[in-house]
Amino acid sequence: MTKLDQIRAAESKLLLTTYERFPVLFTHGEGVHIIDENGVRYLDLLSGIGVNALGYSSPVIENAIAEQSRKLIHTSNLFYHEGQAELALRLTERSGLDRVFFANTGTEAWEGALKLARAHAGLLRSEGKTIGTKFLALEQSFHGRTFGSVSTTHKAKYREPFGPVVPGVEFVRFNDVADLRAKFSTDVCAILVEAIQGEGGIRPLSQEFFAEARALATSTGALLIVDEIQAGMGRTGKWFAYQHYGIQPDVITLAKPIAGGLPLGAVLCTEEAARAIHAGMHGTTFGGGPLACAVANAVIDHIEKTNLLAHATEVGDYFQSQLRSLAARHSAIVDVRGKGLMLAAELDSADLAKEVVNQMLKRHIIINCTSDTVLRFLPPYILERAISALDEILIELTGAVSASPSAAQSAGGLNHG
Ligand SMILES: Cc1ncc(COP(=O)(O)O)c(C=O)c1O
Repeated sequence: MTKLDQIRAAESKLLLTTYERFPVLFTHGEGVHIIDENGVRYLDLLSGIGVNALGYSSPVIENAIAEQSRKLIHTSNLFYHEGQAELALRLTERSGLDRVFFANTGTEAWEGALKLARAHAGLLRSEGKTIGTKFLALEQSFHGRTFGSVSTTHKAKYREPFGPVVPGVEFVRFNDVADLRAKFSTDVCAILVEAIQGEGGIRPLSQEFFAEARALATSTGALLIVDEIQAGMGRTGKWFAYQHYGIQPDVITLAKPIAGGLPLGAVLCTEEAARAIHAGMHGTTFGGGPLACAVANAVIDHIEKTNLLAHATEVGDYFQSQLRSLAARHSAIVDVRGKGLMLAAELDSADLAKEVVNQMLKRHIIINCTSDTVLRFLPPYILERAISALDEILIELTGAVSASPSAAQSAGGLNHG
């Protein structure tokens, strides 16, 4: 029995069956590669679902962990440590927001944002304003797995087994301005969006819809809350995806890549929204601990020092153009979309998408499939190039013949970059 077989057997008896894992046992990583127990190197175009922004074994992260772990790992939020204010300054300066609450994960940050919206509406009511408690969320949204998060997540399969979920949530059709207007009223305390939906299939909000959400929220004092957990912290080539639209939210949530692989989440908000929170109303034991904050500060500094935002834009544009040239030759690719290094190729069949992911893994390239038919790419920001394998796999699986072998050749080069 191999080590992988032993672990699979043990996990199948001991763990809740929340995941169907791929049969690979990873032991270490280096740059854009993650390496299995046999020393086989996989090109990681998913980066731990959008987390490992600086890739694997980054000296920046290793040094920050080593240095901070020798000093202080945990304090609780009853005391000061050196990292939180420094990190809050970096985040507020880059986002244009005023205040931060640190959590541990995406879903915990999102819960904090929902609670902030309810508390803020309560404050406005106490000041004589007419504003209710309803949340408007979007179809195809994904905000996490805890109760508030799952209640504002659209896909029924995530919500229904756990019903009744938190009441007071209504879903608006994605990018449907008329539906948004029809469902918005003074009952609403917050409009909840992802600037680019992640799990929903890498779907960007339209400028018109985002602007209307901003205008409606402003008209009543409701909050516009943008979930930047997957799209934020540089992935799209700007610090935050909403910055592509020139629209300023009241609240944003962050997590995934913020501490380069350590768990850390954050809620950022305006001074106005922050008025609703006072000491004792909300908290966390681990959130914003010294170790995670030290790493996040180092990650942000490194992204800036090495111009990784520009790099993400440049490599992302190249990657997207290569996906488009594949789409021109493979009718199975029905759409290519995304920004920076948050990219998708939508296929015409769920079975094909699943098989492409499996075949890519056989070729030691990691991607995943979201929303059944959407191949999702969330590579580390340090990626240089990567695509020829996808071309070969689609030719094999769909029987299509490359119209231009030279185009296929020139689409290569990214294979193990
Ligand atoms: C947009 C978005 N929000 C929230 C979450 C939940 O984050 P976490 O898994 O860290 O709880 C995710 C995770 O995929 C996400 O993509």
